[in-house]
Amino acid sequence: MSIIYSEDKKIFHLVANNTSYIIKIFKSGYLTHLYWGKKIRNFSLTDTLNTNKRQWCACPDISDRTYSLDSLPQEYPAYGNTDLRYPAYQIQMENGSTITDLRYHSHTIYKGKPKLEGLPATYVDIVDDAETLEIELLDSCIGLKVILSYTVFEKLDVITRSVKFLNEGTQTLKLLRCLSMSIDFKHSDFDLFHLSGAWARERYITRRSLTVGTQGISNARGGSGHQHNPFIALLDKRTDEYSGEAYGFSLVYSGNFTANVDVDQFDTTRVTMGINPFDFSWLLKPSESFHTPEVVMVYSCEGLNNMSQTYHRLFRNHLCRGQFRDRTRPILVNNWEATYFDFDSDKIVEIAKTAKELGIELFVLDDGWFGKRDDDRSSLGDWFVNRTKIPDGLDGLAKRINSMDLKFGLWFEPEMVSPDSELYRSHPDWCIHVPNRSRSEERYQLVLDLSRKDVCDYIINEICTVLASAPISYVKWDMNRHMTEVGSALLPSERQRETSHRYTLGLYRIMDEITSAFPNILFESCSGGGGRFDPGILYYMPQIWTSDDTDAIARLKIQYGTSIIYPAITMGAHVSTVPNHQVKRITSLDTRGNVAMAGNFGYELDLSKFTDEEKAIVKKQIALYKEIRQLVQFGDFYRLISPFEANEAAWMFVSEDKTEAFVFYSRVLAEPNPPHKALRLKGLNSDMDYNQLNESNVFGGDELMHAGLNIPELSGDFQSLIWRFSSTEQIEDKRKLIFSCPSLIL
Ligand code: DGJ
Repeated sequence: MSIIYSEDKKIFHLVANNTSYIIKIFKSGYLTHLYWGKKIRNFSLTDTLNTNKRQWCACPDISDRTYSLDSLPQEYPAYGNTDLRYPAYQIQMENGSTITDLRYHSHTIYKGKPKLEGLPATYVDIVDDAETLEIELLDSCIGLKVILSYTVFEKLDVITRSVKFLNEGTQTLKLLRCLSMSIDFKHSDFDLFHLSGAWARERYITRRSLTVGTQGISNARGGSGHQHNPFIALLDKRTDEYSGEAYGFSLVYSGNFTANVDVDQFDTTRVTMGINPFDFSWLLKPSESFHTPEVVMVYSCEGLNNMSQTYHRLFRNHLCRGQFRDRTRPILVNNWEATYFDFDSDKIVEIAKTAKELGIELFVLDDGWFGKRDDDRSSLGDWFVNRTKIPDGLDGLAKRINSMDLKFGLWFEPEMVSPDSELYRSHPDWCIHVPNRSRSEERYQLVLDLSRKDVCDYIINEICTVLASAPISYVKWDMNRHMTEVGSALLPSERQRETSHRYTLGLYRIMDEITSAFPNILFESCSGGGGRFDPGILYYMPQIWTSDDTDAIARLKIQYGTSIIYPAITMGAHVSTVPNHQVKRITSLDTRGNVAMAGNFGYELDLSKFTDEEKAIVKKQIALYKEIRQLVQFGDFYRLISPFEANEAAWMFVSEDKTEAFVFYSRVLAEPNPPHKALRLKGLNSDMDYNQLNESNVFGGDELMHAGLNIPELSGDFQSLIWRFSSTEQIEDKRKLIFSCPSLIL
């Protein structure tokens, strides 16, 4: 059992793998937080809440003046009812008041994890893998019911939280703030850790000391954004990759979000996370309900890497869905950086032909195949093929590609409309806009109003029609601007601030319907690169284009930062041309390949222009990736050297049974007279011997992890190395297999 309730102590003890999370129903029914951290056997000793009221803290109960909510650790605090800190929710009543008072009413505990209607969320295939606690809180004065849901994953250090608001009263309530979780820690001796950046440098690692007051990250751009990933962690000051405590919070949501950390006058730390209350409100009429997105909370007492591996397992197995969840992903070539908008069918076929010769499995036709789109100034929304460029239509082109035994993929940007398009001319009110205000453009485009059902229905119909018209095996779903002048033509004035959340719900609906209608198509999400790399998207599309920055050296930081919570199988990583189009850097084809092999591998350049020598390198890279693909896409990931802290970067993948490993090292700039270095590996079996593939060296797992692997001398900038190891027992087993079954070629 993962959730134990003690009736006499009024305590819930949630046990997730090696984690305990303890909640107590306090006096008068207030829900307090006792503990979250390393598993505790017996929770009776933890019932030691120090509740003594302090000066300048009011009491909510005049018959018991011993405590104040202002200094009580709570599970879902309100503002104003003696707690004067940063609240988890706030509701306005018809009389203008915003005071609410939620008290414990009842609870249920059951096996499994329910779906969140209309929202992405983690799930279990086997009901016994999770247990859920629902605590019902009531404000009887206004008939407000709030259900706090906690799901405990039996075998992972994961607890998920979400909240449901139900209006069982007679007046309309206005949700001004409805965050997905809140937790109070007893101290503030933490670092705040998050992934922030900008276009072309997404998910850079940021770590700073907590100070008294309010700090955190948030986004009000209409999408989760390049600027801040919807993730934060609190780290013990001494926590590093492999030791120390880490508390991770990841929001399964793709819209405006906030992650707030408030250190109060008594040095307690309150973490809240959810939909950004800025420019948001939601009207809840009698009998209506509202469900918040889910927060995935991960505890690690073995440093950051362990936290990352927990997120990786959870996202791979309990967030991504569909037939591609457990399948290795194809190696692709994409024509974007090869041709941009300047291509025709023959050019495409030429690139595809070379790609096939080199071993590539999928060709992706990027932007520019539709309407009259010869640059980025027109045609978004006009999803009909451009016959000047593609005379045989998509079906004809896809079949030509298929005839080479290559799969065909297609780019779309379904959420957008160009003012210069047939769609916009017919439906000028279908975009997000505010009457009598200018409609600001970014990349000459506007955002379609996905808060409207008719607009969503139209998009679903248009995209499905194209997908059914040709043998399409893959879709790249792009989104290239954020929202401005946010408003919807169909919503009444009192609901205008619902627009961006309704947009996100509309987006989830269209992604759900389209991906369900085409279960055999592999969908990859993209938003100007990694501008919407979040768990909400992964629920519908199991891989995401990591960044528009394809430079191998820039990718060291981007991929390293992304790995903090996202597994390699979700990260698109391509080899592109030099000088690189984003940073103009020249790196070797080897380094570009070695870096891209740490994700979903592909190419994004004109392979037909390569020399024979370059083609031979590419052929080898592809053959190698096919051999290590299972390991990279489903193995355990270990960060070894951070490019944020050194002139180097290193990481490695280890198979679950620890018999295989793939190691990557890069030195960024050449150093004069450098020291000799050894790279200490992680995650191997100390008792196993490992053979270095393609070499005669055999090393003990203990030797590789403690003494380390000697890094050979490197000359020049932007160098990289890779090593493969296979346990000698495994090699012996393979030999026996070949002996007993000689037709097997390994
Ligand atoms: C932005 C994407 O990130 C690129 O890869 C490419 O698809 C362009 N959009 C096309 O417009």
